[in-house]
Amino acid sequence: MNDAARNRAIDAPVVVEVGLGDRGYDILIGPGLLDRAGEEIAQRLPGTRAAIVTDENVATAHLATLQAGLDRGGVASTIITLPPGEKTKSFAHLQDVVDGILAARLERRDSVVALGGGVVGDLAGFAAGIVRRGMNFVQMPTSLLAQVDSSVGGKTGINSPRGKNLVGVFHQPKLVLADTDVLDTLPLREFRAGYAEVAKYGLIDRPDFFVWLEKNWRDVFAGGAARIEAIAQSCRAKADVVARDEFELGDRALLNLGHTFGHALEGAVQYDGARLVHGEGVAIGMALAHRFSARMNLASPDDAARVEAHLQAVGLPWRMADIPGELPGAEALLDFITQDKKVSRGTLTFILTHGVGQAFVAKDVPASEVLAFLKESHPA
Ligand code: GLY
Repeated sequence: MNDAARNRAIDAPVVVEVGLGDRGYDILIGPGLLDRAGEEIAQRLPGTRAAIVTDENVATAHLATLQAGLDRGGVASTIITLPPGEKTKSFAHLQDVVDGILAARLERRDSVVALGGGVVGDLAGFAAGIVRRGMNFVQMPTSLLAQVDSSVGGKTGINSPRGKNLVGVFHQPKLVLADTDVLDTLPLREFRAGYAEVAKYGLIDRPDFFVWLEKNWRDVFAGGAARIEAIAQSCRAKADVVARDEFELGDRALLNLGHTFGHALEGAVQYDGARLVHGEGVAIGMALAHRFSARMNLASPDDAARVEAHLQAVGLPWRMADIPGELPGAEALLDFITQDKKVSRGTLTFILTHGVGQAFVAKDVPASEVLAFLKESHPA
């Protein structure tokens, strides 16, 4: 084996398969995948050309490396650059992306390549799902959150003035390339926020993974093999759920553990990322979901304390009091929860738990209990 071949073997990515039959695909996780993107894409999608969709920040850091990687694999590319931030998930920017793809005269068998975090992946995936009634799509997630969650499973879309992610399609990628090198430059706060979604998989139905994280989280933050392992375990967990319930008719809802309380808190701070970003909202939401489950006598308070202790240990916020500034009162928070949910005869659907790794969909949670719990947990 020569040096180049040896290095390639050492750096060989972990492969996680998403078992969706004809629409199944691989998630490759490891270092150096931007460099090798052309080779990996050309092998699976021979002859494809690419429209790289990215944002200005990610472009500065990684676009040249990806372009060179695509060139090396013989994949011709055109570039569509968007402004960074959640506001980009709009009809106006969807139109920009669609125009860019059509102007480059790409065909259905060409590929939209999303290079970025969740915003870019969701928007580019939606464009890929609708241009020419569905083009090939490749996810190249550059945030931890996107690598472990949003790039896998085919949910795509944009926001409407009436709410987040209200317009979109399910459109599975043909390939996900999660280059772990790009995580080295993420700000700590952003990495931590993504880690909340990693811990989520342990809390849903992988108690052994949660134990492993309790022991190894420092190595996951440090990078290297433990980080790759954590991302691979997360992708396996998500791939399993997606293979069971692609269109969220049942089990896929478990992936929303912590999200009902979390979204309400994001809404309550008017999506002000200086106060609370999505993963932080999920962290507080997961702690609240465990504490609320204990209050409802569904789980032991020891489990809630264990979850809170882990989130606190890694430096994530875990209670409402950790959000800087004042929060609206408990009634207003309940309004945020009920706003995007049907309250059927005074009951709500939540993801609750019987303990660490034992989450379940609870369909008849009384709104009055949620309100009483929010009053008890409120910092005011
Ligand atoms: N992020 C939740 C899901 O993909 O269903």
